[in-house]
Amino acid sequence: MNPSSPEILPDTETGHARAAEILRAGGLVAFPTETVYGLGADASDDRAVARIYEAKGRPSFNPLIVHFADLETLKQHVHWTPEAELLAQTYWPGPLTLVLRKQADSPISPLVSAGLDTIAVRLPAHNSARAVLRAFGRGVAAPSANRSGQISPTQADHVAASLGNRVDAILDGGACEVGVESTIVGLLDKPVLLRPGGITEEDLAKTLGRHLAVRHKAEAISAPGQLMSHYAPDALVRLNATEWEPGELRLGFGDVDCDLNLSETEDLVEAAANLFDYLHRLDARGGGTIAVSPIPHEGLGIAINDRLSRAAAPRD
Ligand code: TXA
Ligand code: MG
Repeated sequence: MNPSSPEILPDTETGHARAAEILRAGGLVAFPTETVYGLGADASDDRAVARIYEAKGRPSFNPLIVHFADLETLKQHVHWTPEAELLAQTYWPGPLTLVLRKQADSPISPLVSAGLDTIAVRLPAHNSARAVLRAFGRGVAAPSANRSGQISPTQADHVAASLGNRVDAILDGGACEVGVESTIVGLLDKPVLLRPGGITEEDLAKTLGRHLAVRHKAEAISAPGQLMSHYAPDALVRLNATEWEPGELRLGFGDVDCDLNLSETEDLVEAAANLFDYLHRLDARGGGTIAVSPIPHEGLGIAINDRLSRAAAPRD
């Protein structure tokens, strides 16, 4: 895969089936939603999700939204709540994303939510998005289909211009109606408006019968990786370890002797795909310190190092 230019898929049954086929093979497919074009990958495939971050050139692992075709499938992955039911009945399918606690046995990649025990889920209204999701049958992780720092795409041409051959295929479903990203509501403790969008806070408050707390945009967007809720291992983390101390849990990279190896072949996509899972696994063994081999500071390595340096930062 990854031809020199992306396959442009027609908005027909054949196009939707081809999109699902590419997703199943671990590829990246951009598709329209009612808000913006999403850069989609199989949310349960660690490597496919890692490729999203690589294609976007994101310097950190911002958690992603998982898109579903139907409520039944979506509910299998989260702890559903009465408030979620209320919002879902009122606004889905549509431009609303809910952040909920993730089911422990959900196969969604830990990289999707950057190691958090929550996931952002949404049921888009756009017919082409729904058709692709139905044909695929599982959750699709999709941020906006643009390079990091660029404007969100509302047409297939925008996607091609921004991502070029970093995406395997683009489903051309015309222009997006809403043009701004979905409203995000957290439903973990009390309802919190995490990102404003097409559905207003007043509407949401009316539906829920209570006010929403509002997290300020700057806080939510400038520093998503610094949020308290982000996963940090219980163990201390020691970076750039070129040799191991006795008793350390050894997280390697490249040709080294270790407990778990992010990528023996120094493949950064593979390393990103394994990162959160391996941190969890080493942490679960219980131990004082997780020591990590140096990771090259280029491409996806920048996001990996960003996450690792947060995990290693001094704690209170
Ligand atoms: O309209 C949209 O929502 C578009 C289309 C493609 O669906 N998608 C989109 O995704 O805007 P993205 O990746 O640009 O925005 C995802 C945002 C993250 O920046 C983060 O703020 C929030 O969703 N998010 C995702 N998972 C979260 C989680 N577990 N906890 C808190 N916030 C989360
Ligand atoms: Mg975006």
